Parts: sequence; C-alpha cells; structure tokens
Amino acid sequence: MTIRIFEDDAALAADVAQEMVKLVQEKPDAVFCLATGESPMRTYAAMVQLAKEKDVDFSSVNFIGLDEWVGIPRSNPGSCYHFLHERIFQPLGIQESQIYLFDGMAADLQSQCTRMNDHIAQLGGIDWMLVGIGMNGHIGFNEPGISWDKRVHVADLAPITQTVGQKYFQSEMVLKQGLTMGVQHILEARTVALLANGVRKAAIIQSVLEGEVSNLLPASVLQQHANALVFLDREAASGLKNSCFFTT
Ligand code: F6R
Repeated sequence: MTIRIFEDDAALAADVAQEMVKLVQEKPDAVFCLATGESPMRTYAAMVQLAKEKDVDFSSVNFIGLDEWVGIPRSNPGSCYHFLHERIFQPLGIQESQIYLFDGMAADLQSQCTRMNDHIAQLGGIDWMLVGIGMNGHIGFNEPGISWDKRVHVADLAPITQTVGQKYFQSEMVLKQGLTMGVQHILEARTVALLANGVRKAAIIQSVLEGEVSNLLPASVLQQHANALVFLDREAASGLKNSCFFTT
C-alpha cells in the first residue's frame, strides 16, 4: 500500500488524473472500474481536462461501474449511471459499447450480478479501480461485516449509508440496497486507488490504514492489496499517527 498525501484536493485530483491518463496512453484498452460520490468529483474533472489537453484516445477504454443504488432509475441525477455519464462519458465522447453499468431498476438483481461477473471475466479483469470510503469504512457498498470472498452482489445498506446517501438526491429516497463489486474483485484489480478528502474522513482513514485488517472496516482490506494507492488530502490525512506514511 502506498499513501500519497497532498496539500489539497486540487493537487490530489491532478495527480490521480495523471495516473489515469498515463494508463490509457500505456494501455489503450484498459479496464477502469469507477466509484461515484463527492470524493472523485474534482479528480474526474481534472482527468477529462487532461485527456482533452493531451488529446488522448479513449476509444478503446472499457468502463465499469463500481456500484449502483437499487430502486433508483438511471435518469435520476443521484444515480451512479447519471453521475458517470455526466462527468466522464459524455465529456469524453465514450460510446455505450465501452460502458457497463448496473441497472438499479432491474427486476432480476441476481442476474445483474451474474452478468457483471461474466463481463469482468470476459474483459480479463480490472486494471484500475477507483474507490471512495464511506464514513463507516465501506468501499463500494461493501458494508461492515461483509465476507471477503464475495464478488458482485446485492448489499443491504447500513443505516449510516442510507442516511448519508441522501446527499446525492434532490428529494428523500428509499436507499435500502445497492449492487456492488465485492471484495474479491477489489483484491483482484491490478491497481486500486482509494481517494479521501476533507476532515470528515480523517478518523475513518486513520482506522482503516493504521488499525487491524477487519471486515468490520471493509476498506482495511486494502492493506493486503499488492498494489493499493491511497490518495489523501492533508485534511483526510490529519488523523494519521505514523509519520512514515507521509510519502509525498
Ligand atoms: C460510490 C461508492 C461509495 C462512496 C463512499 C464515499 O460509488 O462506492 O462507497 O465512495 O460512500 O462517498 P463520498 O465520496 O460521497 O464521500
């Protein structure tokens, strides 16, 4: 696990954007699996801008969604589908054939999981997964208590996730379940980038990076990932006690 700490979120975003664009230049058919939410917003904007400035060809890149809210239509601005289209796919002119996202409105959620598992296998696995961290240490919708051996699955959302998740929606929504990559796909991704910004993430970041690995804090599993990159702004890093983590 490598931890990079930046003065602010703009510096963090610039660095992650460079990593993403560099991967596309080196591997034009790279497979990205992307989170939504507040944490990567500036990063995605920086990535789009850099890709345009450098005129990088994204036409062979594959994109997979990390997760989706069950029961939320794709047209809802709070859906992961809408978020990724608005912030990445539309600005970069990504074709639908390059995109594979969950449908939170599907009648058969189990087949959504099977199809996503098959799709990832067909693509040969995930090259670069970008995740945020929930206030309870979740990654994707892998909530505390999750078993490590899960692949794509339907998750029951923790009460705090149901509450905090309201911030993405214009009116109150029922957020009971999510479709998500499991910890197995996270561990198998060739690179996992965890992004955290803001002082509200300081305590949970300290626990998952400096505490014991435990399924009660799902993001702590990244301590066991061979190629986990953790990008923190100074505020999110402010709870860390071990100064040898300060690698930038
Ligand atoms: C969203 C996702 C979630 C978020 C996490 C942090 O696709 O997978 O795990 O990354 O809840 O959310 P923000 O970034 O809004 O603080």
